[in-house]
Amino acid sequence: MKVEVPPEGSRYAKVILIGEAPAKEEVLTGRPFQGSAGRYLNRFLRLAGLRRNELYITNVSKNRAPKDTMSLIPFQELEMWRKRLIDELNGLFEPKILVPLGRYALESVTDKKGISNFRGSILTPRECIRHKCIVVPTLHPSVVHYNYSVWPLIVADLARVRKLAESDVPYEPPTFNFIIRPTFQQVIDTLEMLKKANFPMVVIDVETPHDRLSAIGLAWSRRDAISIPFYYGTGRDYWTLEQEAEIWKKLAEVLPQLNLANQNVFFDWRILYEHNIRLKTPTWDPMLMHHCLYPELPHRLDVITSIYTDIPFYKKDEKGEKGSTLRAGMERDHWIYNCYDVVAAFWSIENLRKELAEEGLIRVYIDLYAEMIEPLLEMNLRGVPVDVEQLKEARKVLKKLIEDYTQEIYEQTGCKLNVNSPKQVSELLFGTLNMQPYKGEKTGKKALKKLAYKYQSDIPTMIIDIRAARKELSLFSEENVVDGRVRCDYSLARTSSGRLASRKAFSRGGMNLQNVKRGEQRKFFVAEKGHILVGGDQKQAEARVVGWYARDRKFLDLFAKGKSIHLENAKNIFGEYVEKDDPRYVISKSLIHGSNYGLSAFTFARIANIPLADAKRHLELYHSTYPGIRKVFHAYVEQEIKRCRTLVNPFGRRHIFFGRIGLELFKEAYAFLPQSTVSDVNKKALKRLYKHYIVLLELHDGLILSVPKGEVHFAIEALREAYDIPFQIWGETHTIPIEVSVGQNWAEMEEVE
Ligand code: URA
Repeated sequence: MKVEVPPEGSRYAKVILIGEAPAKEEVLTGRPFQGSAGRYLNRFLRLAGLRRNELYITNVSKNRAPKDTMSLIPFQELEMWRKRLIDELNGLFEPKILVPLGRYALESVTDKKGISNFRGSILTPRECIRHKCIVVPTLHPSVVHYNYSVWPLIVADLARVRKLAESDVPYEPPTFNFIIRPTFQQVIDTLEMLKKANFPMVVIDVETPHDRLSAIGLAWSRRDAISIPFYYGTGRDYWTLEQEAEIWKKLAEVLPQLNLANQNVFFDWRILYEHNIRLKTPTWDPMLMHHCLYPELPHRLDVITSIYTDIPFYKKDEKGEKGSTLRAGMERDHWIYNCYDVVAAFWSIENLRKELAEEGLIRVYIDLYAEMIEPLLEMNLRGVPVDVEQLKEARKVLKKLIEDYTQEIYEQTGCKLNVNSPKQVSELLFGTLNMQPYKGEKTGKKALKKLAYKYQSDIPTMIIDIRAARKELSLFSEENVVDGRVRCDYSLARTSSGRLASRKAFSRGGMNLQNVKRGEQRKFFVAEKGHILVGGDQKQAEARVVGWYARDRKFLDLFAKGKSIHLENAKNIFGEYVEKDDPRYVISKSLIHGSNYGLSAFTFARIANIPLADAKRHLELYHSTYPGIRKVFHAYVEQEIKRCRTLVNPFGRRHIFFGRIGLELFKEAYAFLPQSTVSDVNKKALKRLYKHYIVLLELHDGLILSVPKGEVHFAIEALREAYDIPFQIWGETHTIPIEVSVGQNWAEMEEVE
């Protein structure tokens, strides 16, 4: 006989938690949520300020599910449990909030599907539930078994439940005043009103389905918004030509006067710039504000909306169609969506501002985010010039190389090879050519090199070369290099360390600049006409920051000497200076790069290509030579993570680490302080320079400027001054020195004194 686990708690409870089904420990104890999911649940309830003994806790199924898997409960049986659950809920005394945990509970008490979308939303229950209550779903606590970092979202949802439960006034869903399908006069009047009203903030959002601007949304409060449409789902224009021209004229007049804000301002500002409208530099962007508060959490508007507003999830309709798409006959949905986007961003900004203020982070936000918007917008729009002639030549050479080598392989083997198909490469090498594969990755670059050597065959080498050539061709394809420039999107919110990330821009090419390798590929990047590149690089910056945190004299001495720190370190570790081509030089270098961030002996052995025993010995020697790295720096980081999961860098940038506490998390945390400090120095230098110089590239620890040939001296001075940014670690003031270099292209920059 199957044992049923009954619900727990008072019939008079205000908050009702609904789980899925009991598991082993629940059956043993006869109480819901006793096992590992229960332990997580208890922790989340405590963090959210809810008392378990004041709640009513039940499950959809009162029996254990086959293999503890809800999807294995037969449909009829699940329906039976759902009916029983509704009766059970209807028998309770005026519950205020139902909290379904996970998808099965959500689908039992509402008509919504998709727990990750609807978590945190305030919903109405199914009609068969006879209470005047609300539903606030959240994720099932057991998701943290496989996706640990979502726990803050569960806590945020439960905190919302607590607030709603404590409130004396009944919950009223928000109401909105959306102007959709406007007449020409409504558009003109609304824009005129916005111009005159002098609102402290207006949120703007452009929709661009099919790569064409379909609508512009504007919100001037949490409830008031307009969506100005431009065409229908069929592609037919919404306005006559004259009307549209008038509207654009009015937009160009009014928008630049408003204090605009939005989610991911970089996108909207660029799109409007491409329509010849230059907007005022914004200050508030929920994505950036949320990143400043919680760099590790997702910063999509739907997630932010679920935490900071009462607007239920609206990004997809019942059928799973995205509101951002514009479909014939369904235009209304698109325009309403556009209005929701702007009011959601408006509302989120108001609450994020409060939270930034409460957390003492407003100044940090302005300094490291808001004031970075203008220089990055400029860089995104301007792009980096590329030597088009040289690129054309290089493309020809690469194409020829691919053709020749492919033909050569064909002549030697009779095989028309696609080098990017591991299957075809394997068949050729290990079938036709009878080579013996190495363990592990069989057709990767390393394996191919070994095979070329072992079998004295040039086929693996040709495969490597063809692959490299194809990669380079696609990186510098005509799609990525437009009008002789590579334009990418720099983003401030894509890394949790606060480092900038660049990527291929939506619909206008570009590339991730971090993918551009040292050497050959960089030679295509050049200065503006008549200019030269002048670069500033923070010297061994991260290692220095580690040294300051570690307060390790001997380690800091490495920087004081004239020689490179890797040579000095080799001397400390091996007792003598080594040449750069000595294998011990690589060991010395990887020791500094890796050990500071908690590199394991195993990984170190792999990187330095040495036996594990040697790796262990070197690591121990390294740490006994510079004891401060472990004893002061690592110990400090670990202590702070265990105490409050939080680190704050010298510029006030905060990182709360939500991961499972352990070695992997510590490693991430060791890296945060040096990486973010160096990146923030770079940001401050960029802010000082961009009004006077053309900044072409941001490279985490350096900048590259395009400078008129006659002004190189001034630029060098300006770079040195810009990087003179003092900050404190353990009460001592430091600055990171820079190395300056000059060159015709990014690959050939020569250091200057
Ligand atoms: N998971 C649930 O959904 N309910 C329980 O009671 C225990 C684990």
